Amino acid sequence: MTTLALTINGRAYGPTEIRDDLSMNDFLREVLGLTGTKFGCGAAQCLACAVIVDREDGTSYTNPTCIVAAANFNGKTIRTVEGHAQNGELTALQKGFIEHFSFQCGYCTPGFLNESQVLLERLAKTKVARADLEKTIAEALDGHLCRCTGYVKYHQAVRDVVLADPDRYLA
Ligand code: FES
Ligand code: FES
Repeated sequence: MTTLALTINGRAYGPTEIRDDLSMNDFLREVLGLTGTKFGCGAAQCLACAVIVDREDGTSYTNPTCIVAAANFNGKTIRTVEGHAQNGELTALQKGFIEHFSFQCGYCTPGFLNESQVLLERLAKTKVARADLEKTIAEALDGHLCRCTGYVKYHQAVRDVVLADPDRYLA
């Protein structure tokens, strides 16, 4: 057994005792009931299970949860798909995914949403030239697998969010 304490979507959880081999995916879904984080391949190949990890310096990255022990997240601050909308108001990204019909079954959507959010926050700090935008989005979303929609509509949704606020994201 080991002790886990972390912050999820701005709320502190723990300290609580967990099994050493409990995966982060099982901790979120089975222990906390945060089932928005999905379990796909279970082998760090599809990233449906990815959550956002926030560093103390204000930067963030995504991390799979399926093959990672929950204990590895001790002391960390993370965000899951449940933390995006505020007071029932969807983010621009969430609205964009819906408007573009970016998903069908939605199983991959939390991972794409988290990855796209990290990208937007990165671009807000370090703007990108319009000429490099397509490549930047493609590189950011690379590695996320979708069996339904073929990726293009996710890409278009992210692009539209960026282009709707050029002063914020474009150099
Ligand atoms: S379920 Fe974790 S990467 Fe596929
Ligand atoms: S919408 Fe079904 S896997 Fe992506």
